Amino acid sequence: MPAPQQKKQYFGADPVACRETDHYREEYIEAFVNKWDALIDWESRAQSEGDFFINVLRERGAKRILDVATGTGFHSVRLIEAGFEVVSCDGSAEMLAKAFQNGRQHGHILRTVQVDWRWLNRDIHGHYDAIICLGNSFTHLFSENDRRKALAEFYATLKHNGFLILDQRNYDAILDHGYTTKHTYYYCGDNIAVYPEHIDHGLTRFKYSFPDRSTFHLNMYPLRKSYTRRLMQEVGFQHIETYGDFQETYRESEPDFFIHVAEKAYREVPDSD
Ligand SMILES: C[S@@+](CC[C@H](N)C(=O)[O-])C[C@H]1O[C@@H](n2cnc3c(N)ncnc32)[C@H](O)[C@@H]1O
Repeated sequence: MPAPQQKKQYFGADPVACRETDHYREEYIEAFVNKWDALIDWESRAQSEGDFFINVLRERGAKRILDVATGTGFHSVRLIEAGFEVVSCDGSAEMLAKAFQNGRQHGHILRTVQVDWRWLNRDIHGHYDAIICLGNSFTHLFSENDRRKALAEFYATLKHNGFLILDQRNYDAILDHGYTTKHTYYYCGDNIAVYPEHIDHGLTRFKYSFPDRSTFHLNMYPLRKSYTRRLMQEVGFQHIETYGDFQETYRESEPDFFIHVAEKAYREVPDSD
């Protein structure tokens, strides 16, 4: 029998003490998932990121893509429409159900697999040219062991010359200078406020407020840019390019988001950070 659907988010008696990787499934309750597309606004998001991801994938000759953080399907649908072959995964059944529905609305049948990154290879067989893990998703992993395990699973699922595209908020700026946003990328919806209610070195607790006065939260681990790059190198990625708000050059504190493109192909001398 399926588990009863949770109606409200629950972070326990002390929400800032909730720092567990497994908690993400309970955070994406149906009511929040139903608001997700208003939050990200597909049209504005497509405009703001342009063809950045499509170009990165095409330039490197990728055809088979694994979208490991499908969410409501924004990138899966965009990539299918751009001609890529896509398999769409997520650990949240609520998110995948919504993605499937969104896919149908755009005239596509998404190939969905519910799977947690830490056990990706248990359910995903075969190898991919590229994996995308987008929308500040990796930040849901709260222990270093979970982050290493997930990256190792991504690495193993890629072809020998495959690559991973993984993005994150600019947590360095948030931790060092406080939160600001251009409200231009990722969360583009109108009249929706996204704000970190709590920030420390082990947690950023974001609050999402919608015009109908509903509010939701996500508890996230604040990944420093150099730390994410180092973990990728340590699991074996040989070369990592990091973009700031889709640009190659930027001042460290300026971008709202970083996008890492981590390549697996062997290099005589791997990057040093
Ligand atoms: C912030 S949402 C981003 C969704 C989508 N990529 C976007 O940009 O709109 C993060 C997604 O990652 C998924 N996720 C978080 N931790 C996961 C894990 N350990 N395994 C699989 N999926 C996970 C969540 O279920 C959620 O759908």
